[in-house]
Amino acid sequence: MSHHQASLSQAVLITGATSGIGLATAKFYAAKGFYVIACGRNEAVLAEINVGHSLVFDITDVEQVNQAGIALKQHIAEKQLQLVQVILNAGTCEYIDDVIEFDAMLFSRVINTNLIAVGHCISAFLPQLAEGGQLGLMSSSATYLPFPRAEAYGASKAAISYLGRSLRLDLAAKSDIGVSVICPGFVNTPLTAKNDFTMPMQISSDQAAQRIFKGMALRKFEIHFPKRFTFILKCLSLLPERVLIKLLADKAVK
Ligand SMILES: NC(=O)c1ccc[n+]([C@@H]2O[C@H](COP(=O)([O-])OP(=O)(O)OC[C@H]3O[C@@H](n4cnc5c(N)ncnc54)[C@H](OP(=O)(O)O)[C@@H]3O)[C@@H](O)[C@H]2O)c1
Repeated sequence: MSHHQASLSQAVLITGATSGIGLATAKFYAAKGFYVIACGRNEAVLAEINVGHSLVFDITDVEQVNQAGIALKQHIAEKQLQLVQVILNAGTCEYIDDVIEFDAMLFSRVINTNLIAVGHCISAFLPQLAEGGQLGLMSSSATYLPFPRAEAYGASKAAISYLGRSLRLDLAAKSDIGVSVICPGFVNTPLTAKNDFTMPMQISSDQAAQRIFKGMALRKFEIHFPKRFTFILKCLSLLPERVLIKLLADKAVK
């Protein structure tokens, strides 16, 4: 048995476990012996994956999230689980196609799902995370640079990264709960399948799951991958903003 393998009483909660990275991550943890509490809206998929337990709720519905929190508490007590990780992965992406006709409703939708809803999930689930546990927040490597059309998506994820840094600071003073901010490059999922641009150095959702698992186990603050891609973005981000904008504006859709 590898040291990564857990006893059955160790539980991990994952939101957005019905598709893409979240689904692959739920399966990966289950294969490693964790009791996975898979969360999502799609009951059929949740029933099918059968990785431990599932909670059905829409992360943007405060009432549903709070009910899920209560149900989680009961389930943890009943099954005598130790909730060792919470991975808030669920999210969405919509692009601003015409910046002049800025779509404020789209902006609001994306910020609501990717940021505000994460706040509700933290409120409902963090109190149940065991001492020594790890909270994972799904950000993106898009936060390293301004990407074209990503005003809504990038802003929501940049806010997640800040939220993670700030949470980490306050949690460190009060508990032994760690925070990880997860920053993937391009991962092949239904979300990115609809992109109409080339996505360099794309990896599979299984590869992403493996990187998330490893980073969370090591309690890394920043889990970024694939490294060859994030390294380039991080180097570019060191350029002066005016140089960067010149470089990137050529890539933007006019
Ligand atoms: N793919 C990439 O290249 C990439 C890169 C960086 C970061 N990310 C981030 O990784 C996360 C997962 O993305 P993905 O590529 O795996 O996308 P995906 O295949 O579209 O999966 C998104 C998941 O989030 C769930 N979700 C969305 N809105 C929800 C809501 N209101 N309530 C409950 N669940 C909701 C979806 O549930 P339903 O099945 O019910 O829709 C689905 O399970 C996102 O936060 C995304 O921003 C992805």
